[in-house]
Amino acid sequence: MNSTEDIIILAIESSCDDTAAAVMKNDKVLANIVAGQDVHRAYGGVVPELASRAHQKHIVPVVHQALKAAQVEPSELNAIAYTKGPGLLGSLLVGASFAKSMAQSLGIPALPIHHMKAHILAHFIGDLPSKPKFPFLCLTVSGGHTQIVIVKDPYTFDVVGETLDDAAGEAFDKAAKILGLPYPGGPLIDMYAAEGDSKKFKFTKPKVDGYNFSFSGLKTNFRNLVERERRRNPAFIQENLKDLCASLQATIIEMLMEQVKRVAVEYKITEVALAGGVSANSGLRVRLEKEALFLGWKAHIPPFEYCTDNAGMIGITGYYEYIAEHKGKLDDAATARWRIE
Ligand code: KG4
Ligand code: ZN
Repeated sequence: MNSTEDIIILAIESSCDDTAAAVMKNDKVLANIVAGQDVHRAYGGVVPELASRAHQKHIVPVVHQALKAAQVEPSELNAIAYTKGPGLLGSLLVGASFAKSMAQSLGIPALPIHHMKAHILAHFIGDLPSKPKFPFLCLTVSGGHTQIVIVKDPYTFDVVGETLDDAAGEAFDKAAKILGLPYPGGPLIDMYAAEGDSKKFKFTKPKVDGYNFSFSGLKTNFRNLVERERRRNPAFIQENLKDLCASLQATIIEMLMEQVKRVAVEYKITEVALAGGVSANSGLRVRLEKEALFLGWKAHIPPFEYCTDNAGMIGITGYYEYIAEHKGKLDDAATARWRIE
């Protein structure tokens, strides 16, 4: 039973290849449903046209399932939050159009949400045990983004460093593709890395200005090594898969953590969080915990269900937007590119 003061929000996420819906009661997640899209596996990456078609197929059942699991009727909703961007335009359009039409038919606001803010604010989902204290540093690492963000409050995000080319998730996925692993390769590299020797192969780390990152050189370096060795030994990948994964993963983690440590010192911040799909990486999670212990930081690592794309994170961000009375407009358009600041 909901009291009249409770804020009930339906949240929809469709920025890439997951169709997700969640129902929030204030800052708590009542239901969190995600439908993935296996259709992209055969292509080695997300095919935008296939993604939007799959969103169209999944959106009604996913929303229905979320409302049913939460035991919430559409008439009880106070607002519908949806991912406005950044992401694949065709995919975003499906969620945005659905959310705005449903909100209009119910006479409630549709709240446009920034996908990367939502990854960060997932830390504030009410059911989670520890929440970062403001200001905190957040390393946001996903398939499309890699940024170091100083979060001053739930509405103020300063990007102090970001990738100049590929995102960390892309570095994992592209390396996995070179190894012949299916998309998305990040979780598979993580799995094989757990049993490999991370010191077996050395990759050069680029020199990058400021607190930024660059991963495209690592990908080229990785590809050159694999191609060179395969010319000598066609079974090179099979024989060295775990060590290749472990060495690559260790290099990516080192590149990320070097910059995080520099920013933490510069900004005198000891609350350090991870967000985005790559924060599911077990090596990165362990490394952050270790650094935190060593440097006296408080580490904040989201549970797996709130690392990769989900609608719970859109719901908590919608909750903050709702209480700040930031209501969306019917002509808010899905936006493929959108800065977090
Ligand atoms: O946040 P997300 O689900 O979608 C985007 O907003 O991009 O992130 C997806 C990315 C993919 O690149 C995927 O390979 C990576 O997160 N990823 C991982 C792991 N789980 C997901 N990368 C490394 N290790 C993992 N365990
Ligand atoms: Zn994401």
